Amino acid sequence: MLGGLALPNRIIMAPMSRHRANLDGTPTGRMADYYRQRASAGLIVTEGTFPSWMGRGYLFTPGLCAQGHVVGWRRVTEAVHDAGGRIFCQLMHCGRLSDPLLLPDNADPVAPSAVKPDPSGIYAICPRVALPYPRPRVLSTQEVYAVIAEYASSAALALEAEFDGIEIHGGNGYLPMQFFATNVNQRNDAFGGSVANRCRFMLELVDAVSAICGPDRVGVRIHPGQSFADVSDDDPQATYSYLTPRLSERGIAYLHLSQRDVGWDVIRTLRAQFDGPIIGGGALTRQAASLAIESGRFDLAAFGRAFLANPDLVERFRNGWSINRPDPGTYYSQGLQGYIDYPPFFQIGMADQVNPDEALI
Ligand SMILES: Cc1cc2nc3c(=O)[nH]c(=O)nc-3n(C[C@H](O)[C@H](O)[C@H](O)COP(=O)(O)O)c2cc1C
Repeated sequence: MLGGLALPNRIIMAPMSRHRANLDGTPTGRMADYYRQRASAGLIVTEGTFPSWMGRGYLFTPGLCAQGHVVGWRRVTEAVHDAGGRIFCQLMHCGRLSDPLLLPDNADPVAPSAVKPDPSGIYAICPRVALPYPRPRVLSTQEVYAVIAEYASSAALALEAEFDGIEIHGGNGYLPMQFFATNVNQRNDAFGGSVANRCRFMLELVDAVSAICGPDRVGVRIHPGQSFADVSDDDPQATYSYLTPRLSERGIAYLHLSQRDVGWDVIRTLRAQFDGPIIGGGALTRQAASLAIESGRFDLAAFGRAFLANPDLVERFRNGWSINRPDPGTYYSQGLQGYIDYPPFFQIGMADQVNPDEALI
């Protein structure tokens, strides 16, 4: 069980941006095809989706802040549900990791403090010329509450679009992680300074979104100790050990953690502080995932690239079949190639295959 959902298996499709939406962020019919193909996952978590126009950070990523977005996403959720699947929408507000070219009225991106991401030119995955990030504009206290309200409105649209729940993206250096980070968050109001204040944004988000769809339909993804896009924390163990018990007492559906080595055992530490299911992920193989689940290290295993390249990943794992190797060249390209044309096992020979217990490079 995950929140109120009975899952048929413990394999989660990890959230992956694929940059195949329309320019206005409306999900396309091809996106419905892509997710339908992967509906045998225990749970699909969608690609990062902007909850407000100011949250957009890339071209061709989907949004969930307009009626057109709801119509597009409903096609996706219907496709997944008709194929017997379950799907959460990942809400991802990029905060300072954006650019006036992508924002309404060419506004500057917003952030907890006016701290530019460094190094410059991390735009490699954005289909545009690599440019340094601009200096972000500081959100006033009142504006922080307005952003929280935007997440809640987006959650309401998610229900209209018939999602089974929401994952709040609190990792990868995006807005909630910018609030956690001691190098980016230099505020001196209720959202900055102490550990409690730096965690307030996420906890308020969880409360606001839970008020719309119930805590059992809210998952949270965090990346303690990681430094994606130049965020850092002087004492991540203190930050996340404050956050986690508070997420636990709210009764959220799950906590989504990464396996990446940051010098302390994040999953082990935080599992002891969280009563609900833990999703573990990051460079897992079939074997590593089953060992981790059997030993109780985590409850559900998220697969990103393996799911991207294998619509029938669950069946392949169940049977010990080899898996297709993903093509990084088409991760963010806008075409159909490398998107909905990865073949199921029975359609191919053994050419581009990898053993399911071997790491993907
Ligand atoms: C193409 C691609 C896009 C990604 N986009 C997102 C995203 O939108 N949100 C997110 O939380 N993680 C994103 N990730 C990270 C994945 O969710 C996952 O953590 C990562 O791929 C490691 O898992 P894996 O080794 O099983 O691929 C992305 C990864 C890839 C490969």
